Amino acid sequence: MQDRFGREVKSIRVSITERCNLSCFYCHREGEWHRHHNEMTPDEIERILRIASELGIKKVKFTGGEPMVREDVVEIVRRAAPLMPRDISMTTNGTLLKKYAAELKDAGLMRVNVSLDTLDPAKYRRITGLALLDDVIDGIYEAMEVFGVVKLNYVLLRGLNDDELDSMLRFSADTGAILQIIELEAPVEKEHTEFFRKYHLSPKYIEEHLESVAERVIYNELHRRKRFIFNFGGKRAEVEIVRPMHNSEFCMNCTRIRLTSDGKLKPCLLRNDNLVDLLTPMRAGASDDTLKELFKEAVLRREPYWKNTKK
Ligand code: 5AD
Repeated sequence: MQDRFGREVKSIRVSITERCNLSCFYCHREGEWHRHHNEMTPDEIERILRIASELGIKKVKFTGGEPMVREDVVEIVRRAAPLMPRDISMTTNGTLLKKYAAELKDAGLMRVNVSLDTLDPAKYRRITGLALLDDVIDGIYEAMEVFGVVKLNYVLLRGLNDDELDSMLRFSADTGAILQIIELEAPVEKEHTEFFRKYHLSPKYIEEHLESVAERVIYNELHRRKRFIFNFGGKRAEVEIVRPMHNSEFCMNCTRIRLTSDGKLKPCLLRNDNLVDLLTPMRAGASDDTLKELFKEAVLRREPYWKNTKK
């Protein structure tokens, strides 16, 4: 399936719950700013993923909220696995990862992204609201054992965790997890808020710094992303930078569509005005063909959010 801009839709990000055991102050909640608890059942998630699969989407990432607060998270993965053979992953805050890693792997999960913005327990608590850093670190080690690959999401927050690059690099070398430095993002209407002005920091300078000190820089043509390789006493650290803000290239390379926890297709993370409801028609008895048409409608509503070149 291609959108009007020639972008093929290859993957789907499914929020399976809005609930989260943490409350990170900067969280965009996968764009779900309204509170509601109309979660899809495993049956409904499976059916939507089967339709996505029939339309050519073979990669899924489960997100939240925190996906692991759902007691049926393993069952959801187990049902999705045969439908999504190219990739099946989960973004998690890691607090429950030690408990679930092995079961999720057994159900077919291939890998996880773990949110880790700081290695300082006091800052962790300040950012997330809870003193659970040790659980997250245990979860990361466990996930490395079980999956052999973990990505860490490190959202850069000016004056809060921007001094931790070296310790994060070292942690990446110690664990073998790939570090992703992520630019704080917000929709245009929130860009001028005090919050955003206070904490947003462009990773541009970090990128220049990494470029000059990395042992090796690998450019991934496909994702148009650079990877920086470091060596800490024989241990390898790998870093990537994700810069979504005002980045038209980021949008032109977007090949994913989202599904909200209450079953609405969401063409763009940063917009809430063009969703396509699947769950309501589904619960009213809609056929597969009708649901496929709705899917195609959501793909046609996709358009790049950032249209100008990088600021
Ligand atoms: N800006 C950038 N990334 C964010 N995330 C959540 N909120 C934001 C934001 N405002 C990302 C983080 C986290 C994941 C669950 O969502 O990378 O790890």
